[in-house]
Amino acid sequence: KQATLFADDNFRVGKVPDRLFGSLVEHLGRCVYTGIYEPGHPKADEHGFRKDVLQLVRELGVTTIRYPGGNFVSGYRWEDGVGPQGERPHRLDSAWHSKETNKFGLHEMSAWLEEAGGNELMEAVNLGTRGLQEALDLLEYSNVPDGTRLSDQRIRNGHREPFNIKMWCLGNEMDGPWQMGHIDALSYGRLAAKTAAGMRQIDPSIELVVCGSSTHDMPTFGEWEQTVLDQTYDLIDFVSCHAYFKPVNGDIQSFLASGVDMDRFINDVYSIIASTKAKRHSKHDVFLSFDEWNVWYEANEPAHNPAGIDNWPVAPRLLEQLYSAADAVVVGDLLISLLKNVNHVHAASLAQLVNVIAPIVTEPGGAAWRQTIFYPFSQVASTVKKGVVLLPCLDSSEMNTDLYGSVDIVNAVAVVCHDGSLIIFAVNRSINDPIKFSVNLPSAMHLNAVYAQTLHEDDISAKNTLHDPNRVVPHENSSVVIDSQGFNICLPPVSWSIVHVY
Ligand code: AHR
Repeated sequence: KQATLFADDNFRVGKVPDRLFGSLVEHLGRCVYTGIYEPGHPKADEHGFRKDVLQLVRELGVTTIRYPGGNFVSGYRWEDGVGPQGERPHRLDSAWHSKETNKFGLHEMSAWLEEAGGNELMEAVNLGTRGLQEALDLLEYSNVPDGTRLSDQRIRNGHREPFNIKMWCLGNEMDGPWQMGHIDALSYGRLAAKTAAGMRQIDPSIELVVCGSSTHDMPTFGEWEQTVLDQTYDLIDFVSCHAYFKPVNGDIQSFLASGVDMDRFINDVYSIIASTKAKRHSKHDVFLSFDEWNVWYEANEPAHNPAGIDNWPVAPRLLEQLYSAADAVVVGDLLISLLKNVNHVHAASLAQLVNVIAPIVTEPGGAAWRQTIFYPFSQVASTVKKGVVLLPCLDSSEMNTDLYGSVDIVNAVAVVCHDGSLIIFAVNRSINDPIKFSVNLPSAMHLNAVYAQTLHEDDISAKNTLHDPNRVVPHENSSVVIDSQGFNICLPPVSWSIVHVY
């Protein structure tokens, strides 16, 4: 079995958007509390931010942070999270049946982002239980310099300068029957349109994300996007896509080809955007914000939502999934799909950042470590920023999958980095077969050295745990052979590789 990638600098898809490597920080389980924020932890700073987590976040290379949800935002009152911490109310978070103490809010998030490296905030407004007025209030509080009730309140609360938030999500997963305040597509489209128009009257420079579908296989998929875009097209900048992947009925082979579904999802949504633009004779461009994506063995986590009218725990352990080597390969496959589609996808967020289906795990009062999925994400995010994705011309042996039919065994993409070096990412999706992977380079390119790292485990279920945090890590792949066309390398079955060409 073999595959060949033709990496020619003359044929390009487009620039890698900075926002492609975002993540989601939701008030959910222990993502915020005992995740990024844990006053009293031996490694917490004066704000209560865990420095060990901050260091891993920087290493991960995340850019934009979507906040404060997720489903949480659809019942959230942003005002609860600002002002003196001791006076903030405890509230019910009915999305996750938890108690929200509001010790962490907008100001804390802004300060945390500064410490994380100046990452951009992508703020979501509540269009579940709230609407236009509250969105306008939050925008005034955040972006108006001073001289009004809410901007002056921000200043009194300790932030002289406006937060200047550019990117705003108009609600979260409003197509989902589980969402607080879920409504039909037409009602949502109208609500999103008037919210967008109102927000732009305050700050025309903002960029707005309208809710697309929560999964590619929602019964309303397609119709939802079309109806919402018909109401909002010229008022918004992005349509969101959300997708979580897991093996269905133990079908690992299809699971390993999850990137095929992501490619199709992107293509389907982009087709609706393009036809809407044509229909309206619009000059305005709308892109995709793939602002929740990951592997998630939904409903198989160790703990489920608490229950009971008298039982609203603070930061319970929820969605704390430990990821395997196979999961890391799928995350790599999905990253390759995002890169191949940078002409359409201008923002994306891995969901989520810490503890909750996350690349980083912590113990309260204890250690923080990297999950298997940390590695493909950090290897992409830390190398290709400001790079240019090359047209993925790939000729691969195929394999059969129950979910997607016949698909390429190898998925791969090449990126020219800002320093002129070339990086290639590749996954071998086969459960059993190693692949000879050749990369053909243009004859004008001088190849000095090739260095490759591969993440592969014979036990594809191997995980990184508190007691064995470095069980699964990438290793040097020394099978590279430089040949007259470029080079070739052996990709073991179920593997993720990064290859630097100098
Ligand atoms: O990321 C976990 C949840 O998944 C989010 O809260 C929601 O938006 C999605 O359904």
